[in-house]
Amino acid sequence: KPNVGILAMDAYFPGRYVSQDDLEQADGVSSGKYTIGLGQKEMAFVSDREDINSVMLSAVSRLLERYEIDPALVGRLEVGTESLVDKSKSSRTTLMSLFGDNRDMEGATVMNACYGGTAALLNSAAWAESSEWRAEKPYAIYVAGDVAVYEAGPARPTGGCGAVAVLVGRDAPIRLVPGVRTSYAEDAYDFYKPSMSSEYPVVNGKDSQVCYMRALDSCYRGFKARSEAAEGQTAPSMLTDSVGSMLFHSPYNKLVQQSLRRLLFNDAVRAIEAGQPLPEALEPVREWAEACAGQDSAAALEASYTDRALDKALQAVDRSLSAHASLVAPGETVSQRVGNTYTGAMHANLLGLVCNRGANLRGSKAAAFSYGSGLIATMFGLDFAADATGPFTLERIQETADVFGALDARTRVPCEQFTSDMLLREAAYGRNSFTPVSPIEQVPPGAFYLESVDETWRRSYARR
Ligand code: ACO
Repeated sequence: KPNVGILAMDAYFPGRYVSQDDLEQADGVSSGKYTIGLGQKEMAFVSDREDINSVMLSAVSRLLERYEIDPALVGRLEVGTESLVDKSKSSRTTLMSLFGDNRDMEGATVMNACYGGTAALLNSAAWAESSEWRAEKPYAIYVAGDVAVYEAGPARPTGGCGAVAVLVGRDAPIRLVPGVRTSYAEDAYDFYKPSMSSEYPVVNGKDSQVCYMRALDSCYRGFKARSEAAEGQTAPSMLTDSVGSMLFHSPYNKLVQQSLRRLLFNDAVRAIEAGQPLPEALEPVREWAEACAGQDSAAALEASYTDRALDKALQAVDRSLSAHASLVAPGETVSQRVGNTYTGAMHANLLGLVCNRGANLRGSKAAAFSYGSGLIATMFGLDFAADATGPFTLERIQETADVFGALDARTRVPCEQFTSDMLLREAAYGRNSFTPVSPIEQVPPGAFYLESVDETWRRSYARR
């Protein structure tokens, strides 16, 4: 068995951030709206001095250098992003400057809103398992990340920036569980970027929340049914019985909190559908679960997505099981501190989980849910192998990436700076014959930055 999965991970997050407390004051919204209402703490951002290519270069160079990976050993390189600076030339080719003489690598940039990172992971893992895999070039690298920016308004505090670079191969300490993966896709306009002259998306915020939950329901049901069949279980089990950690795509943390509760609700509906006794902890939501398992289930399900009384009842269920604290909290902190990194978000949460728990994860399982608007979503399983040997380990990721040390080293800046940098980005978008005005010193040492865009829109990068 090749035991394909993740060998190593690292990340780049910009050197500057705004605190969501400060942003509440600067935007004149009620105190707690962003910090409690959205559940966010900090938001990373970049000026006109960085773009998606420099962010990707910064992330991949860190992975290669800090884990001392010989670029000649990489047989596949793939990028997941929705931050395009060119409709044809992809970030994937810009990364070639990091690979020396190695020109023989498969892979391209994959795009579907926030899903591209997971598409890149699944493609990389499929390659590592395939007949194209060669022992003399055993590694795939994928990098997932974005510059997530919104026009001024309610969605702006759900921006963020960063990229996660991941080494994929055989005999991995973090393995993809075979046979349980479940996807859901739909033709939706919940969040999209139709304007070629703006970096900002069109977002139907409330609609996007329901789309996300519908995809989550469908993926979870398939994932659970397959997991239970694989384990030979005849009755539906609860999420809390079957995995040790749960990772979500995280546009903002409130949605993550609600997602976990939604899975607990699914456990209740599944138990009733199967004619099983409802676990005691799920009694508070019996009425709703019976409606969703009953005759008019489609209407009841639709209504359940926005039912505040149900969400309140689920909060009590969550508290009684300590579900969020044990399953989700160790893998949510990075996104709370950098904001939405779109394609990178779920992958950043995995890195945060490993940096939080390290070797303690050994022998446990995680379930991961990845969502990209438009929409495509997948839930898949991760196995933190108890028997992994070799140079790549959970402890090594924890020590090398040291993601919380990197986040602590950033600089908190006033919100006026963030707002004026967003104006600089607007002015820079799509321009040729352009030199960024923001100082190079705002880029962390060792990171890449945009030097200029020439008269034929060719971009050049340098390293601080
Ligand atoms: N203290 C505590 N909570 C508060 C406060 C306060 N002072 N003020 C408001 N809130 C709560 C609200 O009650 C609400 O809670 P709920 O989620 O439990 O209903 C929450 O804060 C959000 O406030 P709203 O007024 O409902 O929403 P808002 O107009 O601020 O928009 C939204 C929020 C829709 C998430 C917006 O930021 C957005 O459009 N973001 C981008 C879309 C997005 O990320 N979608 C997710 C999937 S798609 C993707 O990944 C891009």
